[in-house]
Amino acid sequence: MADKLRVGVIGCGDMTRNHVFGYLTSARYEIVAIADLSKQAMKDFDEYFSEYGDYRAQHFADAHEMLEKSELDVVSVGVWDKGHAPMTIAAAASGIEAILCEKPMADTVGAAADMLMVCQRNGVKLAIGHQRRWVPSYTLAREMIADGEIGDVRLITVSARDGLPNYSSHQADMFRYMLGDPECTWVMGNVERETDRWARAIPIEDKALALFGFETGAQAMIVASLTPEHGWGGRIYGSDGMIEFSLTDLKLLNSSTGGWQKHRPDGDFLSYGEDDFEVREAAIAQARDFAAWISGEISDFRGEAQHGYKALEMVHAVYESARTHTQVQMPLKTMAHPLELMIDSGHLPVRYPGRYDIRRRSLRGENVTADTENV
Ligand SMILES: NC(=O)c1ccc[n+]([C@@H]2O[C@H](COP(=O)([O-])OP(=O)(O)OC[C@H]3O[C@@H](n4cnc5c(N)ncnc54)[C@H](O)[C@@H]3O)[C@@H](O)[C@H]2O)c1
Repeated sequence: MADKLRVGVIGCGDMTRNHVFGYLTSARYEIVAIADLSKQAMKDFDEYFSEYGDYRAQHFADAHEMLEKSELDVVSVGVWDKGHAPMTIAAAASGIEAILCEKPMADTVGAAADMLMVCQRNGVKLAIGHQRRWVPSYTLAREMIADGEIGDVRLITVSARDGLPNYSSHQADMFRYMLGDPECTWVMGNVERETDRWARAIPIEDKALALFGFETGAQAMIVASLTPEHGWGGRIYGSDGMIEFSLTDLKLLNSSTGGWQKHRPDGDFLSYGEDDFEVREAAIAQARDFAAWISGEISDFRGEAQHGYKALEMVHAVYESARTHTQVQMPLKTMAHPLELMIDSGHLPVRYPGRYDIRRRSLRGENVTADTENV
């Protein structure tokens, strides 16, 4: 490939730091501009990437000005969830080639549908940052399932916390990835919300239980905050065997393994140590494939927005099931945020009043507390 892709970043927080780490390590991008409401956030970003030759970012307090002036090829969107749609739509209309927007794709399914439409009309490739599609143990599980190592998948179980769109959009996406991206055809679930709990300015539940049905006949279950257990691993039960996986390891049990058979798959890149394995390695692989997709070297990209859309639909369908007391048939028809609808209508009153945000540690100061009201 000739020139490096010119990247601009909107929102210089934790997650775009991971994007930029991936961009710079994959050596196919240069970071030419960053935009944030907080000057300090941009200074911190500069300091973090000071060792990299391809990082020379001009600062903008206004993302729209950055989009107008910086002749970008790629934009990373890493503001909080309500800002994903407005920022993605503004970027798509600015004449760029591709956008990597963080998960969950948007605050509502309706806003996510707008993002798809505007990107399509402007010929912009849109990706959603479900970077765990590049975790080697997840990919090995997908391959083993496709190879019939455990027969027909009956059930996948995982544990979660911190809100379905925030945490479990990753798990919804992972179910589809491991199963070979089938359609989710129905969803049933329930939520408890006794406290006025939010994650990055989006209301979330205290507890949830969700069951998803797929066109293959497989089912998947999320147990969220009912027990202290949570994490990015899980169990897959098949007609002829079982898989247990974590971010780093995988164990297979079937009639020919003679007990649990352990695998520790490595990715295409070096491993960065136990803690960073996923965020680092997956970020590089995501950035590498993203560049290949943008330049036309590959036509299918694992992080394509249609998958992000379906993950958001699945978690919102759990709320919709709780709101309507029904088994929700997919695709989801409710375009508003069903949990917000329940809260606003008084259907889900809090027992212990007092709003709090589980990500309030990210707030930097008065001018950014409202986050997306400033978009
Ligand atoms: N893929 C993952 O595993 C993963 C992990 C963490 C967070 N996320 C997602 O990433 C997104 C960002 O989360 P985070 O934890 O990195 O947030 P953060 O608070 O660390 O960073 C957000 C930044 O956006 C800036 N900002 C807010 N409004 C802005 C505006 N109008 N213009 C420019 N900048 C603005 C803030 O000042 C802040 O610096 C969220 O949607 C979250 O769900 C994804």
